[in-house]
Amino acid sequence: MRNVDEFTITGAVLDQVRRAPSDRVRKVSESLVRHLHAFVREIEPTQEEWAAGIDFLTRSGHMCDDKRQEFILLSDALGVSMLVDAINNRLPAGATETTVLGPFYLVDSPAAPLGADISGELRGMPLFVDGSVSDVDGTRLPGATLEVWHADADGYYDVQQLDRLSTLAGRAKFDADGNGRFNFWTIRPAAYPIPHDGPVGQMLEAQGRHPFRPAHVHFMVSALGHKTLITHVFAAGDEYLDSDVVFGVKDSIVSTFAEHAPGIAPDGRKLDEPFAHLHYDFRLKRRPDVEGQPIAVGLPP
Ligand code: BEZ
Ligand code: FE
Repeated sequence: MRNVDEFTITGAVLDQVRRAPSDRVRKVSESLVRHLHAFVREIEPTQEEWAAGIDFLTRSGHMCDDKRQEFILLSDALGVSMLVDAINNRLPAGATETTVLGPFYLVDSPAAPLGADISGELRGMPLFVDGSVSDVDGTRLPGATLEVWHADADGYYDVQQLDRLSTLAGRAKFDADGNGRFNFWTIRPAAYPIPHDGPVGQMLEAQGRHPFRPAHVHFMVSALGHKTLITHVFAAGDEYLDSDVVFGVKDSIVSTFAEHAPGIAPDGRKLDEPFAHLHYDFRLKRRPDVEGQPIAVGLPP
């Protein structure tokens, strides 16, 4: 093809990519070219702006290593991660809703017994968490596995402060009891900013956006024959619930971190300081074709 101009170039590129032998590659390539060309036609970038865009992507790539994934953060902050999550989690009524995994998940969380205090060296208001795991009909799932991770009272995950901590904290893996129930102690997490010292942070600033996520506890819940659930429970009343930088909040996964005066906690523990209590009952989608084991996804932070 020769003499392509601004009106014929899209068709010329489409004619080329349509040769892809794989149906999926053909579909993805055609769509990419159509949308990318439409984007450029709409914004009509100057050469300098296009170079700045390429520079943004280049710097994002340079920021990535085995601990930092700027492209996932970009996908998160542009709402693409939640869109992909929504497309892949069209759940039946009653199933607990999903949200993003985030960069602070570790594949091998330390196992802890039910009732354990997983706060380690983290300091903050004690938080008692309990609940249950069921299928969508409410049938309890004995021995379901729950992986839990959350930030501390200053908004930092254990993996962001390994220089200060002697061991992982605010993170554990539990087996629910014979009735699908679980409980553990930790500390109340705070809201926090996503890593914003790179190109994504610059983008947020340029867009007039803050980098914060509302306070939450992450859960990955799995059970044999059920789709593994990746979600968080957000703290009701948090100031960032309506402006989560990664668009992850859904009403059904907001719950009260109820604050109590010193006294006897629901598990009988006596506390001399105020504490909080979070109760949440998870309901998993049935999926007899899968094993239901925890899935190894994401990068270590
Ligand atoms: C998180 O909740 O851990 C998270 C999610 C997306 C981006 C950054 C952090
Ligand atoms: Fe988080």
